[in-house]
Amino acid sequence: MTIQEVWDKAREVMAPKCRACPECNGKACRGEIPGVGGIGSGSSFTVCREYLDSVKVLMDLVYEPSEIDTSIELFGRIFEVPFFMAPLGGMNGNYNGYLTDEGFANMSIRGMVESGSLAFTPDGPKDSLFDLQLPIIKDVGGLAVPTVKPWDLPKLTDKIRRAEEAGAVAVSCDIDSCGNLLLKKAGKPVYPQSQETMAEIVKSTSLPYIPKGIMTATAALRCADAGCYGIVVSSHGGRVLADSPAPCSMLPEIREAVGDRLKIFVDGGIRSGLDVFKCLALGADAVLIGRPYAIAAHGGGQEGVVLYSQKILGELRDVMVMTGCRSLADIDRSKLVL
Ligand SMILES: Cc1cc2nc3c(=O)[nH]c(=O)nc-3n(C[C@H](O)[C@H](O)[C@H](O)COP(=O)(O)O)c2cc1C
Repeated sequence: MTIQEVWDKAREVMAPKCRACPECNGKACRGEIPGVGGIGSGSSFTVCREYLDSVKVLMDLVYEPSEIDTSIELFGRIFEVPFFMAPLGGMNGNYNGYLTDEGFANMSIRGMVESGSLAFTPDGPKDSLFDLQLPIIKDVGGLAVPTVKPWDLPKLTDKIRRAEEAGAVAVSCDIDSCGNLLLKKAGKPVYPQSQETMAEIVKSTSLPYIPKGIMTATAALRCADAGCYGIVVSSHGGRVLADSPAPCSMLPEIREAVGDRLKIFVDGGIRSGLDVFKCLALGADAVLIGRPYAIAAHGGGQEGVVLYSQKILGELRDVMVMTGCRSLADIDRSKLVL
């Protein structure tokens, strides 16, 4: 199976909710929620591609050739690649039900482990979405990051405890779900988290805690002061607040503010190894990729997920060769023209 065949099959089976566009950029699906689009005009999604395309990369081939190392240490483990799958919920609402949530969980969690990476996994209005993933996570030795909605503290900490029991390597919380239209429609209350609440969560679990949906240096510093392991700089794919900037455009000032106190993940419109490189150079440690992995799973199952990871890895390695970067530590702002 080729990646082109995966996309062609996905286009057939994902209609009408997702068009499996050659480049997933938020234009065709503007405003489609439920669906895969960005909120309102869709600009919070389309701006991600516009910003990434505007960042230019400097070539440098004056160096002694050597092996390329794309590995990264996170949660005390080594991963082969610095890109991970973003949590994607709602196979039956955001997508057309061609895949069940359980089917998608199997393909994504197992496919990412096979890729030398892992999946951040979703939570949703129905608790069953979170629950069905736990046995799969256990089966792969905990190699996933369950991403809990920002429920009230008792419900949140109960879900984190169950993630611990499944052996998960870390836990995340998409606090930006406060703007999630589907939770609102389902009448499920979710809440912002103060620094004090985050500190309480951090204290309550042995797992590294990673709030997702951080867009400012001030919020990032609060996460650092609360003892969080990392953050995901994210606008939830442009689905929760209209006219948000591209998350990756906020990386330089967030990195400047927190230094090495937090691992920084970023997502939103990252579609190639070149984009991964740009995000790392802008200040991220690693990235999450969302919608394209859903397309890969619809078109090719677990194999599609692995093929897509291999495509991104191949592109990243090529850019590293062309820019004189032997390891991820060599990727920094000096490689870019902003
Ligand atoms: C259909 C859909 C469902 C999503 N479900 C979740 C979710 O359950 N939890 C979460 O933290 N983020 C969720 N997200 C946001 C993604 O994790 C990610 O932040 C976003 O899609 C940006 O990456 P992308 O442009 O590569 O898709 C969802 C996004 C989409 C499009």
